[in-house]
Amino acid sequence: MTLAQLTLALAKGRTAKESIRLLEKANIVFPDFDSKSRKLVFYSEDRAIKMIYVKAVDVTTYVEQGAADIGIVGRDNILEADADIYELLDLELGKCRFVVASLKDIPLSRGATLKVASKYPKVAEKHFARRGIAVETIKLNGSVELAPIIEMADCIVDIVETGSTIRENGLTILDEVEHISTRLVVNKASFATKTAQIQSFIERLKATLEGAQ
Ligand code: PRP
Repeated sequence: MTLAQLTLALAKGRTAKESIRLLEKANIVFPDFDSKSRKLVFYSEDRAIKMIYVKAVDVTTYVEQGAADIGIVGRDNILEADADIYELLDLELGKCRFVVASLKDIPLSRGATLKVASKYPKVAEKHFARRGIAVETIKLNGSVELAPIIEMADCIVDIVETGSTIRENGLTILDEVEHISTRLVVNKASFATKTAQIQSFIERLKATLEGAQ
């Protein structure tokens, strides 16, 4: 019996090359892949996997809708999307932190109402709700660090990797939300119907990650 092909949604952007490298180490090779190409669909050497190369923010949507069986994407996007999907493996790539940052010390105490700019408004709202702080969120799609500088917001909730963007814009970290990294996500129905392929895919990645330690 030939097993059905798996569709993998892989996030474009800063973790794409690392993700492809991890897949290669697990012998899942996409010979035509080139991060600079405009091509959006790639096939693994053995054609067992069809990879769609999509914006990170959209990966969970493809997976939740069943357009992709599995996805590789950062936990930042998973948290913000809050999709009805399984998150089954930490790929330990693209490690960074979600933080609250601002230009100056601001009152992060109960009772204060803060204006928070973020690419991740849901994450920001949840974080401040846990702290008992009322916020008004302003959704931006990039260059979030600008918001406190131009006094559009009191602070930002954003990801910090090297810390350069925060530093070069004179911001300081006031609070930590959580650590994030790249994860493997799975469509719930696919996990029931393509269990063998998905489990074998996970086992190959797990073995590669364990071998790398
Ligand atoms: C991300 C993030 C920060 C920066 C953090 O932005 O939103 O701005 O990277 O990285 P660092 O700590 O290594 O400096 P991205 O590069 O994705 O661009 P954007 O501002 O256009 O969203």
